[in-house]
Amino acid sequence: MNYCIDKMTEQHLSQVMAIEQSAFTHPWSLQNFKDSLRSGSLGLVMTKDTEWLGYTVIMPVIDELHILNFAIAPLKQHQGFGQKLLDEVIDFGRQRHFKDIYLEVREENVAAHHLYVINGFTEIGRRKGYYPKVGGREDAIVMRKYL
Ligand SMILES: CC(C)(COP(=O)(O)OP(=O)(O)OC[C@H]1O[C@@H](n2cnc3c(N)ncnc32)[C@H](O)[C@@H]1OP(=O)(O)O)[C@@H](O)C(=O)NCCC(=O)NCCS
Repeated sequence: MNYCIDKMTEQHLSQVMAIEQSAFTHPWSLQNFKDSLRSGSLGLVMTKDTEWLGYTVIMPVIDELHILNFAIAPLKQHQGFGQKLLDEVIDFGRQRHFKDIYLEVREENVAAHHLYVINGFTEIGRRKGYYPKVGGREDAIVMRKYL
């Protein structure tokens, strides 16, 4: 499986937004990405030749790493790229001596929840009704992985 992972810059945001809007029911805005990158979060983009596969945005907080956004383009899912991108985040955290990685996932997001569980993330709490969903609200599962 060949692919490239590069640091996200504002030049990448039109391609990132195209994936964001197709992968999520409640996508981040362009401004959300700009604000995150400008306030010290790190974005990683995953590509293969000229194809855009996915991206993540991670925020260092002292000795913790928080995954703020993580997506693989719908047409590229189920091919192992999500696992590879998560491997990259975990390696990044370990190499820089972060203590743990935190994230939040919608309770109904079976695919992402499963990916995180098989990679050693465990549930440490819930935020009741944290996410909007069509016709109501949905809990966020807060997960942590020790590095
Ligand atoms: C969640 C997501 C990142 C997974 O990426 P992916 O490239 O499809 O995942 P992979 O092909 O690398 O699969 C890795 C593991 O994830 C799990 N997984 C992926 N899709 C799944 C699905 N539809 N149902 C259950 N488990 C799934 C499996 O455990 C899989 O391992 P396996 O192939 O050994 O069974 C992708 O579906 C996505 O971008 N979804 C939309 C955005 C999103 O929900 N982001 C996460 C927000 S917290």
